[in-house]
This record gives sequence, structure tokens and C-alpha cells, in this order.
Amino acid sequence: MTQDELKVMVAREALKYIPKDGVLGVGSGSTVVKFIEQIGLNNIPVKAAVSSSNKTTELLEKIGVNVVEPNTVEGYDVYIDGADEVDPHFNLIKGGGACLTREKILTSMSKKFVCIVDKSKLVDTLGKFPLPVEVIPMGREVVARALRALGGNPVLREGCITDNGCEILDVHGLNITDPLILEQQINAIPGVVTVGLFAKRGAEVVLYATEDGVKVLERK
Ligand code: 5RP
Repeated sequence: MTQDELKVMVAREALKYIPKDGVLGVGSGSTVVKFIEQIGLNNIPVKAAVSSSNKTTELLEKIGVNVVEPNTVEGYDVYIDGADEVDPHFNLIKGGGACLTREKILTSMSKKFVCIVDKSKLVDTLGKFPLPVEVIPMGREVVARALRALGGNPVLREGCITDNGCEILDVHGLNITDPLILEQQINAIPGVVTVGLFAKRGAEVVLYATEDGVKVLERK
């Protein structure tokens, strides 16, 4: 089975988590693209959605979903999004698609984060995937120095400007044994917009696709 087929499988399973009524939060990335395709192909009604990227908004609107401004929504039940890495404690690395800030905002507004991945994303310890950090461009070097002091090797993601007009540093070489503390430390660096560590608020449910079907992990 290809990784693409696994992504379609988990995207189809995620349809079950779409609320009958109310707003749905939708993340970004190739797995989410499959999820949006499945909504369209199966004619699943979605009353309204909040979106984590311009691309997601465009795809949702193409299949007729009403995308509303997060500022007009107080909170909502379910956010569905992918991840780059998932650890056994439901902590995540996100931001491979450079949408981490809006993804974190939408996560914070939702009651339940349903994370959809294929089995290759499950890890024992976060950090093999370079940790994305969105930065204000004029503060990039000061942030990079602080990240080096934390033991990482930050590399500017060439040619990438986020939907917020910022840049991304991908931090290599981190072995993230305490994601919650590292999230706080990186968030505290002046010039950082968002770090792609989702530990203070990780996922409540992880759906992961394997050759034997989709498995469900639920946070107790
Ligand atoms: C985008 C993200 C994505 O959810 C993450 O990169 C996973 O993407 P994909 O489904 O393409 O593997 O965080 O900012």
C-alpha cells in the first residue's frame, strides 16, 4: 500500500468525526487535502468551517463549504488536521506545510483535535522531523542564535513566506524529551510567532492508517 493510499484511508475514517451541526475546524497538508476530497466525493454536509490556510479555504470553498472567519466563532467542537510526528503522549510536531500558527489558533478554539496520519508519523520521541518555528523576518537571526543555544540547528526554509507574511526556521538535531518545556522555551524567544510543537495542547484523538486498517488512539 502506498503512503497516498494510507492517507485516503485515514481521511475517509475522519469523516465520521464531522459534527452534524456547527462549525468544523480544518487543518492543512496533503492528508487534509484527501480529507476535503472525501467530504466532496461523499457529499458530507458541513454547516460551516474555519480554515488554517489559504489553500484549505480555497479547496473547501470549491466543494461548496461555507468558510467563516475564526474571529466570528467563539469555539467549536472538532478540529481535524494532520501532523509530521506524533508521540505516545499525543504530543505533535506540525508545520511541515508552514501553517502552524493558524493551526495552533484553531486547535486552541476546538474541544477535540482529531489528528489524522499514516503510521509513518508515529514516533517514540519527537525531533527527527525538523521542528518548524515561524519567525518575524527582522528577528530571524536573533531567534536562530537562541535556538542554537537550546541545542538545535536552525535552517531557513528557502523561498517560504507563510500566510502571515513570516518566515520558517526548521530546527534540526533536537531530541525532544520534554516537549512541554521546549514549547514554552521557544515561545518565549522574542521574534518567534509560533513553534510547531503541540504539547501544551496536543491531540485528543489520533487516527493512524496501517495496511490492516485505521487504528484509533484516544487520550484518557
Ligand atoms: C501543515 C501541517 C501538516 O498537518 C503536516 O505537515 C502534515 O502534512 P501531511 O499530511 O502533508 O503529511 O502541520 O502545517
